[in-house]
Amino acid sequence: MCGIVGYVGKKNAKNAVEVVLKGLKKLEYRGYDSAGIAVVCNNLLHIRRSVGKLCNLTDKIAQDPISSNIAIGHTRWATHGKPSENNAHPHTDASNSIVIVHNGIIENYADLKSQLKENLKDFKSQTDTEVIVHLIKKYYKGDLLDAVKKTLSKVKGSYALGVICKDDPYTIICARQEAPLIIGVGVKENFIASDIPALLTYTRDMIFLENGDIAKITKDKIVIIDKEGNEQNREIKTINWDPVLAEKAGYKHFMLKEIFEQPRTIEETLRGRIYPNEGKIHVEEVKLNKEDVRNISNIYVIACGSSYHAGFVSKFLFENFAKIPTEVDIASEFRYRNPILSEKTLVIAISQSGETADTLAALRLAKSKGCQTLAICNVVGSSISRETNHVVYTHCGIEVGVASTKAFTGQLTALYILALDFASKKESLSKEDIKKYLQELWEIPVKIGDFLENAQELNKIAKLFDQKKDFLYLGRHVNYPVALEGALKLKEISYIHAEGYAAGEMKHGPIALIDESIPIVSIATNSKVYEKMISNMEEAKARGATIIVIASSNNREVLTKSEHVIYVPETDEFVSPLISVVPLQLLAYYISVNLGCDVDQPRNLAKSVTVE
Ligand code: M6R
Repeated sequence: MCGIVGYVGKKNAKNAVEVVLKGLKKLEYRGYDSAGIAVVCNNLLHIRRSVGKLCNLTDKIAQDPISSNIAIGHTRWATHGKPSENNAHPHTDASNSIVIVHNGIIENYADLKSQLKENLKDFKSQTDTEVIVHLIKKYYKGDLLDAVKKTLSKVKGSYALGVICKDDPYTIICARQEAPLIIGVGVKENFIASDIPALLTYTRDMIFLENGDIAKITKDKIVIIDKEGNEQNREIKTINWDPVLAEKAGYKHFMLKEIFEQPRTIEETLRGRIYPNEGKIHVEEVKLNKEDVRNISNIYVIACGSSYHAGFVSKFLFENFAKIPTEVDIASEFRYRNPILSEKTLVIAISQSGETADTLAALRLAKSKGCQTLAICNVVGSSISRETNHVVYTHCGIEVGVASTKAFTGQLTALYILALDFASKKESLSKEDIKKYLQELWEIPVKIGDFLENAQELNKIAKLFDQKKDFLYLGRHVNYPVALEGALKLKEISYIHAEGYAAGEMKHGPIALIDESIPIVSIATNSKVYEKMISNMEEAKARGATIIVIASSNNREVLTKSEHVIYVPETDEFVSPLISVVPLQLLAYYISVNLGCDVDQPRNLAKSVTVE
């Protein structure tokens, strides 16, 4: 996880320190337990590192300034070695001449370290990373690129690497293997970064490095060598993201802004793909024709966290709309349990970042078994999106808050489109039904917009419950995964224990938990399981629970069955998760704010989990 940024430009043209710190700020979602930066100035390396968030490093630099035309920086999410200044990157060799930043895990670091017997006294950290810099130094005979190449030929694991050397204050060497790294192409300046937002203020022209690439970057030139040792001209992609979207735009937190962006991001994900009036669907990126879809014997959906919850909803869609048996699996389980796959299996990987290590590994497993693969991703050019046969992008723009909100509803939207596309190709739903669902989807952005006009109402409820220690979230059918997602939102940003349950499972154990102290958040929107939900709420109420219910706006019955009703606009039951999740996002958000938690960067988490 960790984020890296590097800059090299004309002497005195721009302060590299400022560029790197601004870039790191945009990457803090990748990790924020420590940060550091290295520059070359007057042929000496200068390093500043700090524990905690980036602001600590910025303060340190303000007290002890450095400037240069070249810099590499890092924001860390600890894997090996606790968050401390010694373990913070950059790491340097004993003579302070070469310095590196690294994102990833060096799997054979202990082995490599034991081979560097004469250098053991030089190791200053407990990280897996430090061994790389000592190896580079060992191989360095005046050619930094060559020394990095030799080093990486010994390394097993994943890395995105930035390296600079005091002897060459005009060159950054970088490399990528299983961890994202992009090069930003400028005029008389060039950049490296783990992700696009870090560079958008400076350039929109980006090169996405491939696994095994090593690059030598100066202000005027970028030379990329592939894993076979051949020079490559990688395509420069122009990124059209609006940098303002990566800012808070007046909202107190990114998460709140991202919740409010959902009407637009859902609309963007639908636009150009569905035509409700004609009942037509056109997903250009998916090159599966009628025969291909008819040949799919079963679907496996693989993902982690919120993306897994979105995938769980899609089981109902693929089975009910397209009549294709569908299993949903947590990627970290799927990859180790020898699933039964065939060439007729379609494996759908869902990932906002497109970099989640377990999802990527599960996808590769599916590919190795000859399955067709399809990804639902938000980040263009990400590893998962590049490695699948088909990719459907969610057009959500940058999601900065660690808690997934607009990415989740974007993923759901893409899954609805896909399931209806398959249903249309298989003719497993009537034309009228497809039209009906497309119309329902098309109306969702306006309905969420209407609901969000009264978002503050959720804060009134949040204030009544923010001191509770445990919450239960109940749902059935398509809203069971939404209950799981609601509980995850609360856990991750407020640190309150919360569990999501299939409401029908209550009687089989969890009901024993219920007493006056536990609020129950129940999703009881109009559907064929509504009556069942009401019965489950009655059972909980009879045992003293306080019920907060999410209900359809035309429902008056729920007023007598619960203490608090949150009305959401009416919609078809299959489409309802797109709306019912929004109050759960807001409830978690307000509780977190009221508790004074760090909403956008909750403890122990990172936005993109690129380690297993
Ligand atoms: O980038 P991905 O969608 O692959 O990320 C998967 C999970 O790490 C992510 O959804 C995580 O659960 C979020 N923090 C949930 O809010």
